[in-house]
Amino acid sequence: MKKLLSLVLLVVGIMLILQNCKHEIPIRIDNTTPVIITQSDTCSPDTVYFVNDVLPIIRSNCAQSGCHDEITHKEGVVLTNYDAIMQTGEVRAGKPSSSKLYEVLNKTGEEKMPPPPASLTAEQKNAIRLWILQGAKNNFCQNTCDTSNVTYSANIWPIMELTCKGCHSGAAPSGGVSITNYTTVKALVDNGKLDGTINHRSGYSAMPPGGSVTDCAKAQIKLWIDAGAPNN
Ligand code: HEC
Repeated sequence: MKKLLSLVLLVVGIMLILQNCKHEIPIRIDNTTPVIITQSDTCSPDTVYFVNDVLPIIRSNCAQSGCHDEITHKEGVVLTNYDAIMQTGEVRAGKPSSSKLYEVLNKTGEEKMPPPPASLTAEQKNAIRLWILQGAKNNFCQNTCDTSNVTYSANIWPIMELTCKGCHSGAAPSGGVSITNYTTVKALVDNGKLDGTINHRSGYSAMPPGGSVTDCAKAQIKLWIDAGAPNN
């Protein structure tokens, strides 16, 4: 009898817990990063978000093939998703200066990452530092998508810089494709490759590899291309 009672209590307990979690909706930001978010997660300007701000920097500058992707995993370090970044990047929440992921950015010589002459910008380093300082959470935010007045400088270049430039710059850009300024982006508009790659259309390689830009970014890029891709 006692056993039955505790079983009933256990079931009721589990039901209550499930009920409480109901306001959390699991959404897939991209193919590899399922994240649980609460619906009220609008972006705060004071917070650095892992999925929005940090992961694209790391994917584009550290997790490319030949470096810290799942296949190459140099020095056993894999930097393609949150769990791997926390573990193999030795991230200590709240302590950027004792987190390997951050420490290596400011080293010199062989230990410096990414290997010279590549480097993260001061802004990118600071985003990683702040994210760790703020608890290194697996967080994500979503504002309503602003599709009014989309311009190259305010909307399109920031997406390219964050999600594409890391792999598509330097002496040997991935796939021989440079994404470093307006002219290079406009060339990809004219040959259809920007639309084809980010929308994963057949005949094109899906970009960024193993992921996707947000629906909002896709909408903004489409509006801008439809307007003639101006340099505004
Ligand atoms: C992690 C590194 C990485 C990131 C980030 C990345 N790319 Fe690529 N990209 C590659 C590699 C590697 C290739 C060549 C192999 C291939 O085509 O799959 C490539 C190829 C391409 C090509 C030529 C593909 C074709 O079908 O002709 C285009 C265009 C391109 N990328 C655009 C982008 C855009 C736009 C973004 C940002 C939304 C982006 N890439 C982000 C690594 C990356």
